[in-house]
Amino acid sequence: MKEEIKTTLSNLKKVGNYRFLRYVKPKSTTKILYNGKEYLNLSSNSYLSLHFHPAILDAARRALDDYGAGNCSSRSLSGSLDLYRTLEKEFATFKGYKRCLVFSNGFMANISILASITGPEDTIFTDELNHSSLIHGMRLSKAKKVIFRHRDIDHLHDCIKREKNRNGRSFVVTETIFSMDGDVAPLKEILWLKEKYGLYTIIDDAHGTGVFGETGSGIEEELGIKGSADIHMATFGKALGSYGAAVLSDPYTIRFLINKAKPFMYTTALPPSVLASSIAALNLIKNDTSLIKELWRNINYVRQQLSSLGFDLRESKGPIVPIIIGNEKLTLKLQRLLMEKGLFIQAIRPPTVPPKTSRIRFTVVRAFTKEELDYIIYTLFNSAKKLGIL
Ligand SMILES: Cc1ncc(COP(=O)(O)O)c(C=O)c1O
Repeated sequence: MKEEIKTTLSNLKKVGNYRFLRYVKPKSTTKILYNGKEYLNLSSNSYLSLHFHPAILDAARRALDDYGAGNCSSRSLSGSLDLYRTLEKEFATFKGYKRCLVFSNGFMANISILASITGPEDTIFTDELNHSSLIHGMRLSKAKKVIFRHRDIDHLHDCIKREKNRNGRSFVVTETIFSMDGDVAPLKEILWLKEKYGLYTIIDDAHGTGVFGETGSGIEEELGIKGSADIHMATFGKALGSYGAAVLSDPYTIRFLINKAKPFMYTTALPPSVLASSIAALNLIKNDTSLIKELWRNINYVRQQLSSLGFDLRESKGPIVPIIIGNEKLTLKLQRLLMEKGLFIQAIRPPTVPPKTSRIRFTVVRAFTKEELDYIIYTLFNSAKKLGIL
């Protein structure tokens, strides 16, 4: 067994696809220390830069004093602290859904939804670039999986027509904003197909929540279709600067998940300080829309500057900026050059993204100053030019 493991690892190294961990320490909201050197963090999903916000830190500290460090029980036993009730009630209202159920994280929420709600007799139409948690949930469900081309509504429509005589229910599963490409799913068109063919929709708004829509409730708000999915998943570990995830739906689906979703039932509930942080973050977003405006000022600036310098940002729209290189080794070279210049940035390679689409992916966050953004843009441009990428 050990020899097989070693061979797999050395093969990963050969194709430039080997991963290792970098241990870091935050220095400020946007800066981290790695091996004693300071970097601008371009790999954080804390889009609203809330993870060091004083109101959130205060709420977490108060929860530590009042509730202790750990929860030490599952949700169905004594782990359903009153903080969960507050968060679930307020988040459901914010998102425009009847009910909400908080999970330990987005990966477990997605696995839970797909593995407990869909079964072998069902058909799942899934975007080819959906997140790993959705893919693994589908595998566990044993439903028939039909993959449609990325964001291609005509292809989805053809797939639905082809499968329409199959027994069982049909589901369309998609991320709202794709985590590695930053582009937006055609949710309005999917809604049209849902109504025409009586399908169910499951959407993952991990990267849209706290970013899109006037109040920051997510992509559905941005598109004017708030609360329209059958099941909506959102996370607290990205724009909200905390940890955990939520499933939003109707009361029966939520009760069903409480009774059937194994990753919900058989795990220790979240620590109180985490729940209090999510509640505080939600209150901040609800009461201060300038947070979202400031984030978008940065997003628009970076996008406009990079495009005018000749970068092809594809169809990406929000804070996730992909620079697709293709070749894994060249992508790693660019990443190393950027790291040397103080930008903490990741090379994203297969299997996270499809073969030949390796890329530098970075995120724009609210707390970057204009000087920091200019430095990022200038360094990206110079490094890409040096390697002949532009
Ligand atoms: C689209 C998408 N869905 C789900 C997840 C999982 O969420 P979490 O990090 O809370 O487990 C992620 C996070 O990486 C994601 O990008």
